[in-house]
Amino acid sequence: MIDPISTKPNRPLIAPSILAADFANLADDARASLQAGADLLHVDIMDGHFVPNLSMGPGVCASLHKALPDAYLDVHLMVTDPKSYFKPFADAGANLLSFHIEVCESEQHARDLCGEIEDLGVHTGIVINPPTDVERLLPVVDAFDLVLVMSVNPGFGGQAFIPEVLDKGRRIAPMIRGDQRLEIDGGIGPDTAGLATDAGFDLLVAGSAIYGKPRDQWAQIIRTLRGDQEQA
Ligand code: DX5
Ligand code: ZN
Repeated sequence: MIDPISTKPNRPLIAPSILAADFANLADDARASLQAGADLLHVDIMDGHFVPNLSMGPGVCASLHKALPDAYLDVHLMVTDPKSYFKPFADAGANLLSFHIEVCESEQHARDLCGEIEDLGVHTGIVINPPTDVERLLPVVDAFDLVLVMSVNPGFGGQAFIPEVLDKGRRIAPMIRGDQRLEIDGGIGPDTAGLATDAGFDLLVAGSAIYGKPRDQWAQIIRTLRGDQEQA
């Protein structure tokens, strides 16, 4: 397993969100996106309570891990009670577990949940939704391997990018150490990726911009998201 997130990358990392893949051909789509140049896979978990949608459970994650044991799985928990999901997803092969600051009652609560994930030997992430004040997140940034700024209101793929969240990136980026990543998720595509990297994000999630296009275009799309100038 190559750890793509703990060392400062020399170019933006790209994480396809498998929520937009063909679930009946999930391993195949996921493998093809990695072969097209993606660095890791973003796995969206929705509980139908924290967000108004259901996605997948640990069984799907375990099957994906079995099919692609070398793929780094960045598991984004859009759930009201993240604690009860940590072990099931760690056992299912998650390499990173992120949860939302909105479900934390206090700074200490966020730090305690972070510690629970660390105890499972998995990387940690904290996520903030568009309407939430960045000040709520800043006191705990130091504790996590990854900070994820949502650029849509979570629940569904294929939504429009909310540019106001770029200010959060500019605010958090100077606090990010070399062994931490700053991720953005939602509405990232060829038209918005450059805005995100200019604001300091170094890990870009993209669902519909990759899996929503024909497979023979994925390598070029991933290069474009990274800001590579070369043409196919
Ligand atoms: C939104 C999810 C995102 C989503 C991104 O609730 O957290 O990861 O899959 O999809 P796109 O890239 O299509 O906006
Ligand atoms: Zn996500």
